[in-house]
Amino acid sequence: MEPLKGLILSGGKGTRLRPITHTSAKQLIPVANKPVLFYGIEAMADAGIEQVGIIIAPETGPEIEAAAGDGTRFGVSITYIVQDEPRGLAHAVLTAEPFLGSSPFVMYLGDNLLQGGISDLVAAFREHEPDALILLTPVPDPEHYGVAELGAAAPGEVGRVVRLVEKPAEPATDLALVGVYMFTVAVHDAARAIEPSARGELEITDAIQRLVDAGMRVEPHIVRGWWKDTGRLDDMLEANRLILDNLIERIEGELIDSQVDGRVVIEKGARLERTMVRGPAIVGAGARLTDCYVGPYTAIGENCTISGSEVEHSILLTGCSVCDLDGRMESSLLGRNVTVRRGERQPRAYRFMVGDNSDISIL
Ligand code: TTP
Repeated sequence: MEPLKGLILSGGKGTRLRPITHTSAKQLIPVANKPVLFYGIEAMADAGIEQVGIIIAPETGPEIEAAAGDGTRFGVSITYIVQDEPRGLAHAVLTAEPFLGSSPFVMYLGDNLLQGGISDLVAAFREHEPDALILLTPVPDPEHYGVAELGAAAPGEVGRVVRLVEKPAEPATDLALVGVYMFTVAVHDAARAIEPSARGELEITDAIQRLVDAGMRVEPHIVRGWWKDTGRLDDMLEANRLILDNLIERIEGELIDSQVDGRVVIEKGARLERTMVRGPAIVGAGARLTDCYVGPYTAIGENCTISGSEVEHSILLTGCSVCDLDGRMESSLLGRNVTVRRGERQPRAYRFMVGDNSDISIL
């Protein structure tokens, strides 16, 4: 088989993560202080893929290029491919055709996280040589996903994919499509042959259905570990929790009258004074924490300043400042350089300066 290439989809609009995505790509939002996108690139490198194409949007592409560079640091070579408009996942495949040529490839949605990487499925793809391989996972709410129906199979085996339905009102199975796929060159013709869906996109499920209808072999692969699509705030926090759960303790910053408990990473140049950090949690380089409590599942970005406050189950991007909060801040995502503080003046009132589509809950 020709060497596999990788295709990571990192364009799109990210409307569900506004306002963060007004100024930044959602694929660069950090999970455990590392951009989501980097987990996908690393998964490709670990599976032995050397050439990775990244689909980018004109608006956020330059930022993604600046972050991931030419791929050397990941041990891959990255080619950036601009998709003028997010016209669907199958449209992204067509946009990448000059890069992909006739190579088989792994397609990975740049805002997805897959525990255990992709080496297993690359091995299955190489061994069985299907025309396409899709990843599936059982979910409690299949009506929100692309859902697969499988054909009859010998005992102990899984059948071939016979039907794919996007967000079915009455799902026939609970097997949702995970955002990682493997294709042979046949997918290009299939993507060219389909029409835009009701939402105006060229759907990858339609292209795969076309392969099935043409009698090609589409093999399912049931995911064993967890999979997360980080497209919404709650999913992002959940992904952060799952990754932090496997953190390996490392204390390189300075602790003054402070205590850390459990799996905690304190990066070099961070300084904690009279602060308690209960892991799993990570504190980025250059952060300053004074008179604080940092609770489990918190990722504090570089150069954040937190004083007189409690923070838990949250993601703070670079340069945030949180001061003298009354209660505990939890389940929050703060963009870059956000300030949250309690003033001292009377009468007490809430005072905000927030961007479009922000979401504030006072509980
Ligand atoms: P989605 O999360 O389905 O779409 P989106 O990024 O536009 O987000 P939202 O629904 O919140 O507006 O996309 C999954 C991944 O694929 C994501 O990393 C963006 C990428 N993508 C493309 O690169 N090109 C496309 O045409 C589309 C639809 C998505």
